[in-house]
Amino acid sequence: DSGDDEASDTGTSESSLQTVSEGTLTVCSDVPYPPFEDFDETSESGFKGFDIDIVQAIADGLELELEVKDSSFDALQSGQALNAGQCDMAASAMTITEERKAAIDFSEGYYDSQQSLLVPEDSDIESIDDLDGVKVGVQQGTTGKTFAEENATGAELVSFPSDAEMFQAIKAGQVEALLQDLPVNINHQDAGGFKVVETYSTDESYGLAMKKGSTELVEAVDEQLAEMREDGSYDEIYNKYFAT
Ligand code: ARG
Repeated sequence: DSGDDEASDTGTSESSLQTVSEGTLTVCSDVPYPPFEDFDETSESGFKGFDIDIVQAIADGLELELEVKDSSFDALQSGQALNAGQCDMAASAMTITEERKAAIDFSEGYYDSQQSLLVPEDSDIESIDDLDGVKVGVQQGTTGKTFAEENATGAELVSFPSDAEMFQAIKAGQVEALLQDLPVNINHQDAGGFKVVETYSTDESYGLAMKKGSTELVEAVDEQLAEMREDGSYDEIYNKYFAT
């Protein structure tokens, strides 16, 4: 009867965690950025990917519903979206950096990554030393952009708001190379027509980003991540996307 339904409705959220929308973990992500985040009409959240599976497991563990919002990466990495209360967390293949830590709090690292150079299959570019005067696509606000600025000083860097736009530009011949996170460039390589010619060991680690000062949420998230590593669910998700 309806009385019972109401009683169980109010009991849906077991979590005492404060979130921007009660009972829900609202996660911002710059989509698409496969294999980490992508659209998926067939899935419950409307999204799929390594990050999405990780935050779904965290939401489940915290007894919260998951809501994913597509956002601009630059607004996420600067802390702007989080501090404006648009979401509880950014899960966006975001590297933990000292600079970002000034504006946002991070979970423990959940994925180790590095930078890489992608060129068309028939390109003569073999390394970062071949980029003088070459148009190279990078994503705004990313560690890839900073790496290119510091290490490809002769290149003509072209900044794009998203990976999708970068990839469009290299397909159209508007840039001759893309410098960004290795797994995403490998994803482009796997789609055909492009090759990763060089990788750079930048020792990057992705973290889940939260509003500065959300100590309770950060602790709860770290606990979930530790549990997932212990009970094998982290490995299960990892192997789903990165099994070799
Ligand atoms: N790992 C890089 C960084 O933190 C790039 C992340 C871009 N993520 C995205 N979803 N577009 O700067």
